Amino acid sequence: MAEAASLTVSVWRGAEQGSFARFEVPARANQTVLDVVTYIQRELDPSLAYRFACRVGMCGSCAMTVNGRARWTCRTHVRKVVDADGALELRPLANLPVIRDLAADLAPFFDKWSRARGTFQPKDAPDGAVPEDFAVVPPASKQRREADAGIECIGCAVCYASCDVVAWNDEYLGPAALNRAWTLVNDVRDGGRAERLDAVAGDAGCHSCHSTQSCTERCPKNLDPSSAIAGLKRALFWDTLLGRR
Ligand code: SF4
Ligand code: SF4
Ligand code: FES
Repeated sequence: MAEAASLTVSVWRGAEQGSFARFEVPARANQTVLDVVTYIQRELDPSLAYRFACRVGMCGSCAMTVNGRARWTCRTHVRKVVDADGALELRPLANLPVIRDLAADLAPFFDKWSRARGTFQPKDAPDGAVPEDFAVVPPASKQRREADAGIECIGCAVCYASCDVVAWNDEYLGPAALNRAWTLVNDVRDGGRAERLDAVAGDAGCHSCHSTQSCTERCPKNLDPSSAIAGLKRALFWDTLLGRR
């Protein structure tokens, strides 16, 4: 099938209340969804609000809803997501307040990282001082491998926007914050395990996850928050059984 000469792009305009505006954008080889949005903003409507920084899949700031599904847009080729008529529909990420147009407000997402105690707490330096020596953590140890498996999160919120439990329960910490907590529970240099496990237990935490795996299926970095959450459940189970909580 010959490629269409142009794409019809419906773009959300406004905040929570708004409507779609339509644009015709020239189709190009190897065009990404972010290229399309940038074309619209530079050539057709300079007032369009959206967010990006690195363009190479590192910063996590360009995620949007593309034809109904959360994706990073700088690494998503149009040809892979466009429908048969060459149409694209772009909305801001779901499960977050809308600032304007394609820019969602990520404050609630990062607040939840903080509530899940997603900050490293050095074990040997209780006042936050920098330890004098580097810790040696064997790369092949089980805990190191568990931590490594989740550490490349770029904070794009694709998983958060894809999670039904987040949609149903405003308080739920969500896959990325829980994944972060799991990397720290496995960090042998960290001294905040007990408080962190307290923070991720309960209705807002890991026990509310239904293991549907949308987070894992859609994470553009191929991380597995669903397994991380299962790890937190196991850690809480054993800590409770062994009287450590
Ligand atoms: S596995 Fe859990 S965190 Fe991931 S999308 Fe499903 S309910 Fe949400
Ligand atoms: S876990 Fe994956 S989808 Fe979720 S914020 Fe991190 S990189 Fe993005
Ligand atoms: S612009 Fe940085 S990840 Fe897409």
